Amino acid sequence: MTPETLIASWPSDGKARYGKEIIRFNNRLAETGLFTDEALAALLDRHPRDRRDFCTMKKNPPPGETWIAGEAGDLSGAEIVQAVRTGALWASCRGAMATDSQYRPVFERIMGEFSKATGQPILSATASVLISGPSMGIFFHCDPAETMLFHVRGTKTLNVYPRTDDYIPEVALEAILLKENLSDAPWRDDMAAGATPVTLSPGESVCWPLHGPHNVINGPDLNVSVSVEYSTPRSAMTNGVFYTNGLLRRRLGLKPHSRATPLAAQPLYWLAAKALKTLAPPRYNAETVHPRQFDIDLSAPGNIRWRPGCGPETLDRAA
Ligand SMILES: [Fe+2]
Repeated sequence: MTPETLIASWPSDGKARYGKEIIRFNNRLAETGLFTDEALAALLDRHPRDRRDFCTMKKNPPPGETWIAGEAGDLSGAEIVQAVRTGALWASCRGAMATDSQYRPVFERIMGEFSKATGQPILSATASVLISGPSMGIFFHCDPAETMLFHVRGTKTLNVYPRTDDYIPEVALEAILLKENLSDAPWRDDMAAGATPVTLSPGESVCWPLHGPHNVINGPDLNVSVSVEYSTPRSAMTNGVFYTNGLLRRRLGLKPHSRATPLAAQPLYWLAAKALKTLAPPRYNAETVHPRQFDIDLSAPGNIRWRPGCGPETLDRAA
């Protein structure tokens, strides 16, 4: 069944607040039937193997805690969903909302509604289907693109932090945009005080300003969410500034200040970034950054079977 509109409860002042504040609204994705255990199992079965990501981490991870990548081997989608539900696991069908023939029409509809609600043209958009277990999380990071979360099942808390040099220094943001790392951002414990927590129940959604660093902690249940990355003309300009300045800093030793770049000058940076990306595309390979350290195994503690030489003692995966 497909509901008439997929976005609900968009605030009347949402357009004015967009890009400046955290905005909460609702989604009706659950009503599409695409996020039941059965639908998710079928998606995991048909989604290309190289675009499925599996990871584990310490339960209730502190914001700076990182994650460890693994593989699901020949497990069926249903077995993977079961392993996530009862283990210390997190599974993602990367880009599935934009590429899968069943999910894509729904994604196009909801992004169309979002564009209308915000008044922002969407230049490009992709989204992953995230299935994560009790007390799992996502470490403190900053995404290069505009991001938002359509939450569908379970409960989780998203913590959003200020977009200032104290929380995400310009050098760190440039490194993310230049793909020197994934989206890792340096964490200090005193930054916890700056968090704005957003608790999400089934059917709730949230978007927050570009480059707002964040981390996520799940409640005690299976979580299903859609994590969206998109770009607008405004975010493309801003990222052009950080990208170009990142190269100027690294190649020419300059000390630019991207956050102080006047709006009128941003198109020039955007054009420069476009040209630089063509001349010297960033090199990056997630496989080498996060080597596979475990296999999902329903008979192992936390459903994690460590590969030889892997398995840090510090992780607590007691069910
Ligand atoms: Fe994120």
